Amino acid sequence: MLPDTIVTTVKDKPGLAQSGERLALELGCPFVARQDRSLQVLEREYGHKVTVIVGERRLSAWFGGWEFFFHPSMALLRLMNVLKGEKDRMADALQLQKGMSVLDCTLGFGTDALVAAFLVGPEGKVVGLEASPVVASLVSYGLGNYRFGLHPGLDPVKAKVLAGLPQAVARIRVLNVQHRNFLSQAPSKSFDVVYFDPMFRRPREDSASMAPLRGLALPDPVDEVSVREACRVARTRVVLKEGRYSPEFERLGFRVVSGGKYSEVAYGAIEV
Ligand SMILES: C[S@@+](CC[C@H](N)C(=O)[O-])C[C@H]1O[C@@H](n2cnc3c(N)ncnc32)[C@H](O)[C@@H]1O
Repeated sequence: MLPDTIVTTVKDKPGLAQSGERLALELGCPFVARQDRSLQVLEREYGHKVTVIVGERRLSAWFGGWEFFFHPSMALLRLMNVLKGEKDRMADALQLQKGMSVLDCTLGFGTDALVAAFLVGPEGKVVGLEASPVVASLVSYGLGNYRFGLHPGLDPVKAKVLAGLPQAVARIRVLNVQHRNFLSQAPSKSFDVVYFDPMFRRPREDSASMAPLRGLALPDPVDEVSVREACRVARTRVVLKEGRYSPEFERLGFRVVSGGKYSEVAYGAIEV
């Protein structure tokens, strides 16, 4: 049972209510018919903290005044930069190449997973693990249902990325599971690279764009057992993203490979 969460619909419509009931069943929380009530009224009446809203083509979750939903804009921007010849720090830290398999242990918004899925190409694959049932459901739905609109007159680089994103999405498998559980059961050397991007120990170091995720996400640090298992599961390297100067790199045995005084974040790697 998922505590503190309800599912409702953006408006009162039978088709939406059916989808809402299905999602509530999947999440293990109550479905509440909207009956024209505002979110504030629903919160007062049901006393929950997270409201998942089923819309015509979108799922979102409201928590503490923030709305969480899937949007590919950051992935789109990063991939456009890569196609223009710029470096992507995550892709560099993971040393991503065509055909690679990537285990993303902290899916979150799905941005890194989508960038990785695009860059590994048709022979590659990405598995994204997410501990929060709401985040996993919303991102999985968003990845599967987002319409990457292509129209004449688009910037050619943008058009190229948009044209490739539906195939990239199809290479991502989302699983609602704690990474420690998945890693402990995964065969040795079953992914080329394993990636951790946990909620930072000091939230100030991650950007304001993380705010909608903060109330839904699992805030725990990566543990040593997970890192040890990740080193067994990875064929080439395990990468951790954390705040600049974070003691997590040393605690977990990562060598910082990408940082710099102008960046709030750094990447550490363990070669295996
Ligand atoms: C900082 S976000 C990741 C952002 C992501 N890299 C992106 O590009 O959108 C961290 C996510 O990892 C999830 N998470 C934290 N600990 C986890 C665990 N032990 N297993 C699976 N997911 C976890 C959190 O719930 C959160 O959604």
